[in-house]
Amino acid sequence: MIHACGCRDPIAVRSLDDIAEFLSTARSNAKHASFREIRRRIKDERQKKGVPEPPPSVATIHGYFQRGRKRINVETVREIGAALGLDQDALRWLQRECRLIVDGIHRSMAVPIATQIPAPTWCFHGRDRQRELARRYIRGGQAADRSTVITLRGPAGVGKTELAHRICADLAEDGHPHGPALSVDLRGYHAAEPPADSVAVLRGFLKRLGMKPQQVDSLTRARFAEEFSQMLRSGGAVVVLDNAESAAQVEPLIPRYGANIVIITSRRSIDVPGTEHIDLDVLDRDDAVSLLRSYDPVDRIDGDAQRTRTLVDLCQQLPLELTVVGNALRDKPDWTLADHVARIRGLPIHEASHHALLASYRVLPAPAQRLFRLLSIYPGRAIDIEAAAALTGQSPRDTSALLSTLHDESLLKCDNSKRYLFYATVRSFARRMAVEEEAASAQYSALQRLRERKTKQAMIRHRDRRNVALPHGWTRTQRSA
Ligand SMILES: Nc1ncnc2c1ncn2[C@@H]1O[C@H](COP(=O)(O)OP(=O)(O)O)[C@@H](O)[C@H]1O
Ligand SMILES: [Mg+2]
Repeated sequence: MIHACGCRDPIAVRSLDDIAEFLSTARSNAKHASFREIRRRIKDERQKKGVPEPPPSVATIHGYFQRGRKRINVETVREIGAALGLDQDALRWLQRECRLIVDGIHRSMAVPIATQIPAPTWCFHGRDRQRELARRYIRGGQAADRSTVITLRGPAGVGKTELAHRICADLAEDGHPHGPALSVDLRGYHAAEPPADSVAVLRGFLKRLGMKPQQVDSLTRARFAEEFSQMLRSGGAVVVLDNAESAAQVEPLIPRYGANIVIITSRRSIDVPGTEHIDLDVLDRDDAVSLLRSYDPVDRIDGDAQRTRTLVDLCQQLPLELTVVGNALRDKPDWTLADHVARIRGLPIHEASHHALLASYRVLPAPAQRLFRLLSIYPGRAIDIEAAAALTGQSPRDTSALLSTLHDESLLKCDNSKRYLFYATVRSFARRMAVEEEAASAQYSALQRLRERKTKQAMIRHRDRRNVALPHGWTRTQRSA
């Protein structure tokens, strides 16, 4: 959508850099009015309105067209826009966007910090291999007198936060010398709140570590990470960075000196050099059953193996869903397992994880959202790049990039032969998104393209077997398509 002023798509304005870019486009539409001229027009407008304050300086106005700003005055943006000839509609829109951005920045600066790592759940199950791996990484770090940074990655509700807490509790139980503990939710994919600003997190960390507020306030942005590292020089600190958004967000939060322990959780792959990665999938069946058993106050689980299996299947072995069902088992002890199965079957699918998955889905670019929806109608389990490309109707190269995006967001798994498959709960969520957002005719066309590709492949195989020439225009590449 082109805006009334002839500037870029308003929906794309998300940050202060976007505002600077928007103003630059408006300025080029206004025949590159000089900053001095813009100032003069602002001055005239203020005089007309009887505003006594002098206009902002030329340097200040120039600053509004530069990327990398940290603050803006919304009224100044409006005045610059008016000086560049934007109409009333455009100015109202610009003001509203600026307010939203400024509000988002304020909220990204409000970050609660905890100085205790929460205890893991009383009914923690499974994850023996991952806990042992974490122990090994931490022992290695301690022996080399350097920090250990472990990233736990997996889809929503798989148990990343819980495992982070479990690993920290393991440290204490293993007699690891105890230093300061810091824990923060970085809100990398929060439905309502913006991601936490790294400097705001460091500010909170420094205060929690005992730095005086005046001293914290006197630091420049560039100094925060160094001061934090210095304070943890002697090592032994445990830092949990939950729900990380990106490598850029977490990098300043990793102490550079001393043998400290940092556990990061994310749905995305967070590529920070020197980091150990542990990928999490749903619980093993046995662990899922014993998780349900531990919630059940009246021993129904062992008495009805078949319905227990059904319950575990309905939860798709996802800890989040299992916990919700476990709570229902505990709260309704007079219900049989058949009653519980009937109740869950009557509920909308993946009710518990829907909200969390929606947050992941919403941040995807539109073409990745479309592929995500179309993948849910694929009749097989694992899909290769070529088949996915047939679904989207795009090139394998573009489709491969979109598949990587979905994989990075922990919405898809990838097997050894570069085929992609859904995490179980994610597939039913994607199916629902397809029902809600993908026209039935578009789904039909996608399946039609897939069928055509299969038919073509079958014909090529058939002709190959009989050693018949390929039809005109069918190249070797299509043969492998
Ligand atoms: N290994 C586990 N054993 C028992 N409960 C678990 C386990 N992992 C996760 N849970 C429970 O499942 C729910 C979701 O876990 P959480 O760690 O919040 O998921 P994530 O951080 O991956 O979104 C929580 O209620 C948590 O207590
Ligand atoms: Mg979590």
